Amino acid sequence: MSSASYDENSPRSFTLTWVATLLLILGFVVGLLMFPPLYEESKTEVSNNLLFVGRFHPILLHLPVGALGLLCLMELVCLTRRGEASMGSAALLTLWVGSAGAVVAVLAGILLSREGGYEGGNFTLHQTLALVGTAGVLLALVIRIFSMSSENRELMHAYRAVFFGSFGLMGLGAHFGGNMSHGSKFLTEYAPESLKGPMVSMEKWMLGFVEKPKAKTPEAAPAPSVPSPAPAPAPAPVAGTTPAPAPAPTPVPAPAAPAPAPAGNEKLVFQHVILPIFEAKCNKCHNEDKSKGDLRLDNYEVTMKGGENANNIVAGKPDDSLTIQRILLPLDDDEHMPPEGKEQVTPAELAAIRYWIQAGASATLKVSEAQFPPEAKEAVKL
Ligand code: HEC
Repeated sequence: MSSASYDENSPRSFTLTWVATLLLILGFVVGLLMFPPLYEESKTEVSNNLLFVGRFHPILLHLPVGALGLLCLMELVCLTRRGEASMGSAALLTLWVGSAGAVVAVLAGILLSREGGYEGGNFTLHQTLALVGTAGVLLALVIRIFSMSSENRELMHAYRAVFFGSFGLMGLGAHFGGNMSHGSKFLTEYAPESLKGPMVSMEKWMLGFVEKPKAKTPEAAPAPSVPSPAPAPAPAPVAGTTPAPAPAPTPVPAPAAPAPAPAGNEKLVFQHVILPIFEAKCNKCHNEDKSKGDLRLDNYEVTMKGGENANNIVAGKPDDSLTIQRILLPLDDDEHMPPEGKEQVTPAELAAIRYWIQAGASATLKVSEAQFPPEAKEAVKL
């Protein structure tokens, strides 16, 4: 009786595989219905227990990366009839494990996003591509089982196309997730120039689909003529198909600005001294994509606007400004900024921020006109 399943000639049974796969798909769908992906603000609050689960997202996501990465190699072997015969079942198991890992990681990611403060283009792309990629991998799983149970080799080609395509989308999605936790320049910063241009253009092009143009405009208004040192090789050459509202071109030179900036190389206190400090010490957590405490510090307007509390910067009054207060708290205070373990603000940087606020927290104050106190010197090297 039991010899049946070992009989070379009797067809293999895929009942168990089907049950496991359908349960997986069901889990994915139910999970998404219970916790719909976030696209605008927080929709529903979730309990602390669920937020706790969300914090496992950064580790859980390694399982699908590993399993599906390994599967790519296995599929190369399975391209031949003999390879498929010897490794097909192992590939199927690996695919199932990778798909299950993707489902769990995606659901945990959605819970993580429920903490709030996750929005912006990188987040939207990360979430969308991860969802599409996971759905694609599940579809691939279904096709592989069909193909194996019906011994249909044509279907196997369809499976591979769907699998590799979906895995590619997931990888792209993972990149935008990386941008969220390590900053948008993480991958491209040290890239060879020949790669950097195309990578940056491609990112901009993709972000153009999901970013609201309004997110960019405030930057241009208050800070006149501050072209970044090396304006990246013009945006995307990828012409055509963009249905989204045309993304506002980033480096708006705004020459018609009020201040008659001599020769355009006049350094501004906020733009060239204060903002770089925020960039280095604060903006992993207070940016467009991840705004902890609802606070962004990545341009003048949002810095002045503040977060949950409106007194982030009180012009003329550093001691009333929440940013200063938080930096001054003892390191082990939960509200100290940046949080313990992160690179801290130096005394010179603090003095510079303090001076800028004292002097009126202006966007247009020029470094040449500013009278920084001597202890701020080190933070004002330009
Ligand atoms: C590692 C992440 C991280 C870094 C880096 C960080 N913050 Fe925060 N920040 C948070 C979190 C989380 C909150 C929300 C919880 C809280 O209020 O303490 C927050 C809240 C704040 C708030 C309160 C906002 C409000 O309106 O309630 C201020 C002000 C602030 N941060 C300033 C800064 C400054 C200035 C820096 C850099 C010198 C900085 N943060 C760096 C994580 C960070």
